[in-house]
Amino acid sequence: MTTLGARPAGAKDEADTAWAVRRMFDAIAPRYDLLNHVLSANVDRLWRRRTARRFGAVLARPDAAVLDICCGTGDMTMALLKRRPRGGRPVLAADFAREMLSRAARKFGGREAGEAGAVALEADALHLPLRAESLDLIVTAFGFRNLANYEAGLREFHRVLKPGGQLGILDFAEPGGLVGKAYAVYFRRVLPAIGRMVCGKDGPYSYLPVSVGSFPPPNEMLALMRGVGYEDCAWQPYTFGIAGLYTGARPLVV
Ligand SMILES: C[S@@+](CC[C@H](N)C(=O)[O-])C[C@H]1O[C@@H](n2cnc3c(N)ncnc32)[C@H](O)[C@@H]1O
Repeated sequence: MTTLGARPAGAKDEADTAWAVRRMFDAIAPRYDLLNHVLSANVDRLWRRRTARRFGAVLARPDAAVLDICCGTGDMTMALLKRRPRGGRPVLAADFAREMLSRAARKFGGREAGEAGAVALEADALHLPLRAESLDLIVTAFGFRNLANYEAGLREFHRVLKPGGQLGILDFAEPGGLVGKAYAVYFRRVLPAIGRMVCGKDGPYSYLPVSVGSFPPPNEMLALMRGVGYEDCAWQPYTFGIAGLYTGARPLVV
């Protein structure tokens, strides 16, 4: 069976993929936030807020151990922090692209004293430097699709989640029907063209539609999650299914 995972143009294996993805995001880092919000007309902010709301109960617990993996410039982490109580345990925000992570760290530094904070950690999602069964919640926004091996990523998240711990994966999808057809024109032609003007031909906005097209559709992704051992797996479409949130939990008892 072929391994499901990202393969940017020219990448032959998982190591190549990790290198190409890291290089691409390091290069786009200075323009990432602006482009993201402009190209999505700020809807990306709503999606992250909605994702944080879905995990409101666990985020409200001061002692909850929370990881935002593939945190990039930290916008998902900031949405999670809005739901953390004052003095709560800091959220771990991890990414392997240093230029993205340093921007996230600057955002976290701007928080007021006493507000729940975040700690930036340089780490690869497929090899987390974290103890087994140590986290209550893992969230990832628009990062999972870039992993070189989706099953290995799900396994690594499962390893570090406590029994009963929850996982949320927010990512793009390909909507069907008329909306899907109209959106495909924007997503496959307009968006990469604007992205190329700003970031050059090898930037993430050429790669984005390709990576979404080869990402497993919801039924396959849910089967993959169940196969790794998650329970209560579900997909909640956002905005006509342009994006969506996968949720699952590590079972309390195996
Ligand atoms: C599209 S950005 C998303 C950033 C942020 N989560 C957001 O919502 O804007 C994807 C991020 O995933 C990171 N990433 C991709 N593969 C990774 C891996 N294997 N380990 C850690 N970070 C990874 C990239 O470096 C990049 O910063």
